[in-house]
Amino acid sequence: MNVLLTGGAGYIGTHTAVALIEAGHDVVLLDALHNSHAEAVRRVERITGRDVAFHVGDCADPAFVAKVFAEHRIDAVVHCAGLKAVGESTEQPLRYYRNNIDALLTLCEVMQVAGVHRMVFSSSATVYGDPDRVPITEDMPLRAVNPYGATKLFAEQILTDLAAASPEWHVISLRYFNPVGAHVSGLIGEDPGGVPNNLFPYIAQVAAGRREKVLVYGDDYDTPDGTGVRDYLHVTDLALGHVAAIEHLGDAPGARAYNLGSGAGTSVLEAIAAFERASGREIPHEVVARRPGDIAICYADPSAARRDLGWKAARTVWDACADAWRWQSANPRGFAG
Ligand code: WQD
Repeated sequence: MNVLLTGGAGYIGTHTAVALIEAGHDVVLLDALHNSHAEAVRRVERITGRDVAFHVGDCADPAFVAKVFAEHRIDAVVHCAGLKAVGESTEQPLRYYRNNIDALLTLCEVMQVAGVHRMVFSSSATVYGDPDRVPITEDMPLRAVNPYGATKLFAEQILTDLAAASPEWHVISLRYFNPVGAHVSGLIGEDPGGVPNNLFPYIAQVAAGRREKVLVYGDDYDTPDGTGVRDYLHVTDLALGHVAAIEHLGDAPGARAYNLGSGAGTSVLEAIAAFERASGREIPHEVVARRPGDIAICYADPSAARRDLGWKAARTVWDACADAWRWQSANPRGFAG
């Protein structure tokens, strides 16, 4: 299939592009480069040995998106483009609603006109908010607790309503848990601008000597060692989940959602210890106050994706640490370096 990947120069987008190409699909990448680098696309070409069509522009610009559809025969879309920093979304809600919802609406309207009705949407486990229990299944209550999560929840609802009104639409929303790690080549990986919000890139930068120590946000949660527990999923397994979703889009009309997670929980201290083992570097860390908005524990029941998409995570947190370290140590300043 010929797949348009929005956010194609980003962390998830580049890894998904590699996985799609290696599965025999063709890709067209679209990215505004707000928080990604064109160098990442060149690295995708190095890894796959294939030239990749790449368009720089904004998904919310109808003329730009229509031009991309006019230039390429697109069979399906993987929509990853969007703002994704939880903390920033609470400070700038209007920017998040405008950017993330406008982009989706524009993309769907252009797809409708172009006669393209297949989409895999990048959703997030954040749509579950603070779950009543774990592991989390897709039928559990959806209740976003920040504007970023709300944009994902609204997007899923928009796609559900669209598919209900127009049966030709086939949509799969993938609810990512915590994507971590890097491609095994070390050529692409997570490259957050500024100070990383997320745990893994922060640990990697401490290991590389770019940051002094990891601040552990609380050790008084109701978890085995008191620190927050999450479902860390290797980004290559996540990318393969998109390939599985793309290849199952034709199976059933309508809109479906699947958890993409390992099904296991890892604490902050366990993640730090795993990274120390994988990198051979000491990771200084200090326990400080909880981060507002954080929840204690969150991990997936990924059995629906296994049943319907034939997908299951194959890589461990240790693999993610080893691959993240290979990326970080080979690219101490990320793509810009
Ligand atoms: C993980 C754990 C922190 C940083 C977020 C978004 C989610 C998704 C993934 C987009 C928590 C602790 C973190 C640090 C720490 N993004 N931590 N020190 O918050 O689970 O999920 O990113 O879809 O939507 O909500 O990920 O990596 O920020 O935190 O102790 O410097 O690490 O308290 O327990 P989170 P995270």
